[in-house]
Amino acid sequence: MITALDHIAIAVPDLEKAIRRFSEDFGLHLEGTEDVVAARTVTAFFPLPPTSIELVHPLNGAGPIAKYLEKKPGGLHHICFRSDDLEADMARLRDKGYEFLGEQPSPGAHGSRTIFIHPRSCDGVLVELNQPAADPEQHASAS
Ligand code: CO
Repeated sequence: MITALDHIAIAVPDLEKAIRRFSEDFGLHLEGTEDVVAARTVTAFFPLPPTSIELVHPLNGAGPIAKYLEKKPGGLHHICFRSDDLEADMARLRDKGYEFLGEQPSPGAHGSRTIFIHPRSCDGVLVELNQPAADPEQHASAS
């Protein structure tokens, strides 16, 4: 079941500059940055309860965000729904004809598991489904 709007993600070409904007100009609290190797991204999370802003930037200059930034100067990249049972939500949506990017969930930030629904299944919007780690404190590797 989808239980929350977990975060809204913005692809940024200059992570440090974007972090300064969100912390100094907008006054949001930077929770931390994290390399998400499986997604080839560096993320920065700004909690804004009950959701968060996630800045996403290419890790080591490669990966899907790098490709995105070749075409656009930055922008709204995806929205993320929190799921309390990722397999059940995937099965339910697949039965309805939704296409996913990949067959299986992959590791996301904060020890979560994550999968993306193809934008062509959602009127052009990239939608992430994310199930948080059972104990996120165990994965508090954010720096
Ligand atoms: Co995300």
